[in-house]
Amino acid sequence: MAEIIDGKKISAQIRGSIKEETARFIAETGVTPGLAVILVGSDPASQIYVRNKKKACEEVGFKSFEYLMPESTTEEELKELVNKLNHTSEVHGILCQLPLPKHISEKAVIESISPMKDVDAFHPANVGRIMTGDYNFLPCTPAGIMELIKSTGVEIAGKKCVVVGRSNIVGKPMAMLLLHANGTVTMCHSKTADLKKECLEADILVVATGKAKMIKADMVKPGAVVIDVGMDRDENGKLCGDVDFDEVSKVAGYITPVPGGVGPMTIAMLMRNTYTAAKIAASR
Ligand code: GUN
Repeated sequence: MAEIIDGKKISAQIRGSIKEETARFIAETGVTPGLAVILVGSDPASQIYVRNKKKACEEVGFKSFEYLMPESTTEEELKELVNKLNHTSEVHGILCQLPLPKHISEKAVIESISPMKDVDAFHPANVGRIMTGDYNFLPCTPAGIMELIKSTGVEIAGKKCVVVGRSNIVGKPMAMLLLHANGTVTMCHSKTADLKKECLEADILVVATGKAKMIKADMVKPGAVVIDVGMDRDENGKLCGDVDFDEVSKVAGYITPVPGGVGPMTIAMLMRNTYTAAKIAASR
């Protein structure tokens, strides 16, 4: 049976150490890290994510600024708010919760955020920095996954890493981080000819497809590290991942559960990025 990678516990440890560092930082500089979170509309899942981000800020000793805007908000109004926050010294990080309503261009809004305050690391300037390895911020989910892999003690260097899913938020930056860690990286996607064959070669398998339980036990190399980014619903409406946990956990060496694996790490990394943004601002 695979060892379960406890994202909840690792996230709490990281947030605990950020809390300690933050207290020291505030005492030394008089600056309290601040995160602004913007939510447009009333998507129930987004409302929960935003509430959790606010709670996490309060727990680690950051200021949080919440902007709840109606669905009818125009792109101009949203960009005006972002611009105001770009120039607000108490705000070190700006996060605009995605998805945005259809009439607003996500690209335009992301590009309006100052790269120095872009704690999601979605701005093209920060995406470019990730390519070269010269970055201030890493996107939260892939950064959290790197921490989860580190917690297993499994060395990435020289290992065969397979990433399934090529989104801008998870798959693409994930592949880059594994490459920076000297993994031999393969990216798989919906057009991959033989997904099973590719996955079977993985010492480290990261799955971010949004397809419930698509990775089966016969697709996983015995002893592999399996990271499941999925947040799906199974045929009974129960929360599950992209990996068939009950079956794959009999084959894998290490596996993340859903929930309680990758999810909690994303918020811990958001806190880390906000703290980094405040440190950079204070050092200028
Ligand atoms: N929606 C789902 N995940 C995320 C995220 O990591 N950042 C933002 N801004 N929106 C999201």
